[in-house]
Amino acid sequence: MSNSSAFLLLLLSATFLGHCGSTAASSGDQTQNDAAAGDAVSSDAAPDAAAQSDAAVADAPADVAKSEDVSTAGADTPDVAAVDAAVAEDAVDAQDAADAVATDVAPVGDCKVDGDCNDGNGCTVDTCGADTFCKHVAASGVCDDGNKCTSGDTCSDSACKAGTPTACDDGQVCTNDSCDAASGCQHANNTAVCDDGSVCTVDDACAGGKCAAGAPKVCDDNAVCTDDSCDAAKGCQHVNNSGACSDDNACTVGDVCAAGACVAGAAKDCDDKQLCTTDSCDASGNCSHLANNLGCDDGSKCTMVDTCADKACVGSGALDCDDKLACSVDSCDAKTGCAHDMSACPVVTTYADVKPIFANRCAGCHTGGGSGGHNIGTTYSDALLDSYYCPGKKKGQCALVRIQNGSMPLGAGCTGNPVLDAGKNACVTAGEQAKIAQWLSDGMKQ
Ligand code: HEC
Repeated sequence: MSNSSAFLLLLLSATFLGHCGSTAASSGDQTQNDAAAGDAVSSDAAPDAAAQSDAAVADAPADVAKSEDVSTAGADTPDVAAVDAAVAEDAVDAQDAADAVATDVAPVGDCKVDGDCNDGNGCTVDTCGADTFCKHVAASGVCDDGNKCTSGDTCSDSACKAGTPTACDDGQVCTNDSCDAASGCQHANNTAVCDDGSVCTVDDACAGGKCAAGAPKVCDDNAVCTDDSCDAAKGCQHVNNSGACSDDNACTVGDVCAAGACVAGAAKDCDDKQLCTTDSCDASGNCSHLANNLGCDDGSKCTMVDTCADKACVGSGALDCDDKLACSVDSCDAKTGCAHDMSACPVVTTYADVKPIFANRCAGCHTGGGSGGHNIGTTYSDALLDSYYCPGKKKGQCALVRIQNGSMPLGAGCTGNPVLDAGKNACVTAGEQAKIAQWLSDGMKQ
């Protein structure tokens, strides 16, 4: 039957319904149904031209179709099912129609054994009856609809019904999973972004169906005081070290890492050991030694004021070595200081020169703390004591005063005048008086 024939049947049905007194509204509904029927035909019109034709036949009432038509539909069924599931659905419908017809209209006497009745449908049990009619009874159980993209297909109403979609997901991110009706699940390798499980690689990508490691992760923190590495589980590791480093201060040396930071070492030694230079370190790490004007020591005992000038210690303020003696020659030695050459000076009278005079003329009364209170006769230190008789003078000085005024030696009848006293042994002679005078003039030296 052609499409135009089917359309004719529908048209006739519409006309019949109209004659049965349906209302205008129901007539309108019917028009919609007609449209739906037309859609159904159109929907059945699958890409395969043969299937389209067969489907149209299958949809027609079974009692209208002729056995020749049904046989044709049955023969086409396997091919249709193998090519497309959607088409196969139509094909099953066709099969249903074929089965119904075959049971009823098979030629009498055609079959002798069951094998003569094989309709090629796994979902029917085919037998040859005693009346030589073939019987095709719907079977149950597992079957294969020929589509590898369905699983668990089962027989239903003498047809093999598609089961559930075959699970093709292999759980692998590096394969694109799909299903091909003829060959089943397909797992095509891709180049998707993936994770190789290591945090030490980046930009991992699929290759050959597996996740390939990407480039090594860069863990360099650019800090010289840490040792950088990557741990597959923990990621970048930065362990403090104690290596040499630079604190960016050129005026420190021996900088070392500690606790992840560079710690300044000792200050650069710019000391030139020169007191007259002030030492420093500039930003470039160069030592400078600038002249100063500090006080210093030029190492000479002959200069009293030493001051730095032009990076050297310059002595000034000569040491005064003048001993006020006209006869001496004064000088200064840098190491020992003042020196006085006395070679041109006269011999100085000492106590030793006058002691014999005092011993002979005076000791009889002036010994042992005796007359006059003190031993001026034989003891030098007593001669330096203050005199009571001659205020403002020493006892030694007063001695000459009393000799010359005739009061000493006491009781000896001396006048102090050498001329008048001449011949008197107790009296001090002119020469002895001169020597005592000289001693006093020389400073009463010991
Ligand atoms: C005989 C004993 C005697 C003889 C020798 C004698 N004196 Fe004296 N002298 C005295 C007596 C006592 C005094 C204390 C009374 C006085 O100041 O007059 C004295 C006091 C002095 C004083 C005073 C002391 C003072 O602190 O001011 C002087 C100086 C002195 N005698 C010098 C001499 C000298 C120098 C000689 C030898 C040349 C000498 N006498 C020999 C007995 C003596």
